[in-house]
Amino acid sequence: MWETVISVVAFVVFAITVIITAFGLVYRRRCLQVTTNASLKNKTVVITGASAGIGKEAARDFARRGARVIMACRNLQKASKIANDIEASTGSKSVVVRELDTSSLDSVRKFASRILAEEHRLDVLVLNAGIGGSSERVLTSDNLELTMATNHFGHFLLANLLLGLLKESRPSRVVVVSSMMHSHLKTLDIENLNLSKSGSYWSLQAYCQSKACNILFARYLAALLKDSGVVVNSMCPGMVSTEIFMKSRNFISRYIYGSLVPFLGKTAEQGAQTIIHLAVSEETASITGEFFENCQVSDNATNLVLDDGLAKKLWEASEALVGLQPEEQHY
Ligand SMILES: NC(=O)c1ccc[n+]([C@@H]2O[C@H](COP(=O)([O-])OP(=O)(O)OC[C@H]3O[C@@H](n4cnc5c(N)ncnc54)[C@H](OP(=O)(O)O)[C@@H]3O)[C@@H](O)[C@H]2O)c1
Ligand SMILES: *[C@@H]1O[C@H](CO)[C@@H](O)[C@H](O)[C@H]1NC(C)=O
Ligand SMILES: *[C@@H]1O[C@H](CO)[C@@H](O)[C@H](O)[C@H]1NC(C)=O
Ligand SMILES: *[C@@H]1O[C@H](CO)[C@@H](O)[C@H](O)[C@H]1NC(C)=O
Ligand SMILES: *[C@@H]1O[C@H](CO)[C@@H](O)[C@H](O)[C@H]1NC(C)=O
Repeated sequence: MWETVISVVAFVVFAITVIITAFGLVYRRRCLQVTTNASLKNKTVVITGASAGIGKEAARDFARRGARVIMACRNLQKASKIANDIEASTGSKSVVVRELDTSSLDSVRKFASRILAEEHRLDVLVLNAGIGGSSERVLTSDNLELTMATNHFGHFLLANLLLGLLKESRPSRVVVVSSMMHSHLKTLDIENLNLSKSGSYWSLQAYCQSKACNILFARYLAALLKDSGVVVNSMCPGMVSTEIFMKSRNFISRYIYGSLVPFLGKTAEQGAQTIIHLAVSEETASITGEFFENCQVSDNATNLVLDDGLAKKLWEASEALVGLQPEEQHY
């Protein structure tokens, strides 16, 4: 009797493992490695959130291609260890860490002034830092909701502040890391970007809204910069096994996704390939305003984030919420 139960359970576990592994193998098939050997010698890359996950592996690739890599990170100790690891694995001597907390507008302004004072050029800006949705509604010191501040508002301000340098260094590129999770957002209430309307906060919704804003922002910036020599694209890295799940306090993200993603998802290195493709490939040099997946232009972005009128409203509201000053506008 017990032997039968045990064999049935063992068989079910075995079958599930096979299915998950098979799904993972099929899922990971596409764009495991960009083929270009394009060099980044004499070029400078700024990448936010390079202390872990996808950002760390993209930074490593840029270092290998000879770039000066500026890792824009909030945890300097953690980031310095990663910078040393990247230098050791690539032989680069040009990986530096600069302090940036994307959830603080003050930190973004300090970071940008330092970059503008110290750097001569900026060829690639990768806006990658992100959190998976704060479990509770938390306000930052700027009175902005934490998920939106970290994933959207900080990057919105940063890109604006560095725009002059990007233009001077043209041809240059901006890569905005979004997610297909944006497709779960059905409407974007411009009056409620701060998610302050009573009863409206839910961590997953905050995440999906921030990722929708990433695409709307990238498309509007691309249009503003048309023919300026700066191209801007957004992308989804796919489902990737990184720290983002274990950092979440949401039970489902943390324990359900967190335990399955190592089997189902891409490795961080595989997840970084579409960022790298957009940052260095010859064939993406003149593409702008698109959404990418698996190293290809994707038509999976939802109609909501393709709405140019909404993108304009989001841009104007974001300018107001970050308090963008006239001298901070370079478009
Ligand atoms: N993993 C996926 O399946 C997946 C899918 C779609 C999209 N994405 C997107 O991919 C991007 C990278 O995520 P990941 O999966 O690589 O996650 P991760 O391993 O948790 O890395 C996130 C990075 O962002 C940094 N970061 C978080 N908050 C920050 C802040 N306030 N200021 C500065 N840096 C901050 C983290 O710094 P610390 O090291 O200090 O924590 C870390 O370096 C995110 O934008 C995410 O939305 C991921
Ligand atoms: C890239 O590889 C091709 C051939 O594989 C070679 O002709 C070209 O010089 C390489 N480019 C760089 C920048 O190394
Ligand atoms: C990089 O800059 C150095 C010094 O200005 C120059 O000699 C070299 O040719 C440049 N390399 C590339 C790949 O542009
Ligand atoms: C965001 O919402 C809170 C109320 O929850 C409010 O106190 C704060 O001023 C709002 N922030 C901005 C920038 O409007
Ligand atoms: C768009 O989504 C579909 C369904 O998830 C997927 O099969 C397809 O590969 C995606 N497109 C790209 C370019 O990745």
